Amino acid sequence: MTETNFVSKPFTKQVTHGRFSWQSPSNIALVKYWGKKTNQIPENPSISFTLDACRTTTSLEFKKREQSKTDFSFDIYLDNVLLEDFKPKITTFFERIEKYIPFLKAYHFIIKTSNSFPHSSGIASSASGMSALALCLMSIEKELMPEMTDDYFNQKASFLARLGSGSACRSIEGDLIVWGRHIDIPNSSDLFGVKFPHEAHKIFRNYHDTILLVDKGEKQVSSTIGHNLMHGHPFAQNRFNQAKNNLAKLSIILQNGDLNGFMEIVESEALTLHAMMMTSLPYFMLMKPNTLEVINKIWAFREKTGLHICFTLDAGANVHVLYPENEAEEIYDFIKNELVAYCQNGHYICDRIGFGAKQIDI
Ligand code: PMV
Repeated sequence: MTETNFVSKPFTKQVTHGRFSWQSPSNIALVKYWGKKTNQIPENPSISFTLDACRTTTSLEFKKREQSKTDFSFDIYLDNVLLEDFKPKITTFFERIEKYIPFLKAYHFIIKTSNSFPHSSGIASSASGMSALALCLMSIEKELMPEMTDDYFNQKASFLARLGSGSACRSIEGDLIVWGRHIDIPNSSDLFGVKFPHEAHKIFRNYHDTILLVDKGEKQVSSTIGHNLMHGHPFAQNRFNQAKNNLAKLSIILQNGDLNGFMEIVESEALTLHAMMMTSLPYFMLMKPNTLEVINKIWAFREKTGLHICFTLDAGANVHVLYPENEAEEIYDFIKNELVAYCQNGHYICDRIGFGAKQIDI
């Protein structure tokens, strides 16, 4: 597959107006994507758990414009409030995907979006938000070209979402998604996410992710800046090779259910991601004191109980606590009794592994 596979063929139908809605989940990377080439091509492959409770719901209403125009025309609402602030981000997204979605200037769009998680929770809505919007656009394209296959629909939705926000390409399907070419993952691609091709061990079914909202403030350094700081980073090449090796190892672990091996790779990936931030120039740090408190508590509890609790981090201070279903009761008690105290206003989100986006009727 190359980019040209995603340039639309001449449409076989016409449509003047309509509305499509999708609910799309967030995802949490186990092997992290950090560093990219031009056009949102990742420097290394990554793999994520698709989440379930953290979702964005987006509806896209479209109406044919009277004459063809040279600009984009859209309004965007977050929780039913018109938001001018979001317009530049969506305009950039539309510019990037126009080559692949030729009807963008032919319609006026009304985009209505809302998140299941609080807006200022420190949880990025870009993965769920961009994937939901990409799916709505693909629903229009499908209407214009009904012969499109489901596989192509999902692949192109992931391809478009990637152009909005890299990790968004892993939010179309579930429950384990690989993005980035890797020799051990057949059909893997730098252009879109694919389902992990092997059967995962049953221990990973219903895996839990309790997200501790340690700091809900806006990040001081955006992930766009962070990715760019990997250019010329002294450890970049070693890091990219390490991620490739970790994905190879994790692929085996996900099949054989070796939880100790799983925890080691996942925690090492999280800390390496933050180590890359701390060793960039300029250097920066997104962890907060409570992030470290939580990590130390998790290690002490694991040492004491032998339970398979581990953590991962995304580009922020919040801690994702991961654990299997069969140990959930004891671990959840520990989280409530000992970790929630480190969350801002005691806030946390109980999530678990999910199966991807859903089209809905609203
Ligand atoms: O999709 P972006 O550009 O916001 O980058 C996301 C990067 C991490 O969340 C830190 C890692 C990942 O693979 O999701």
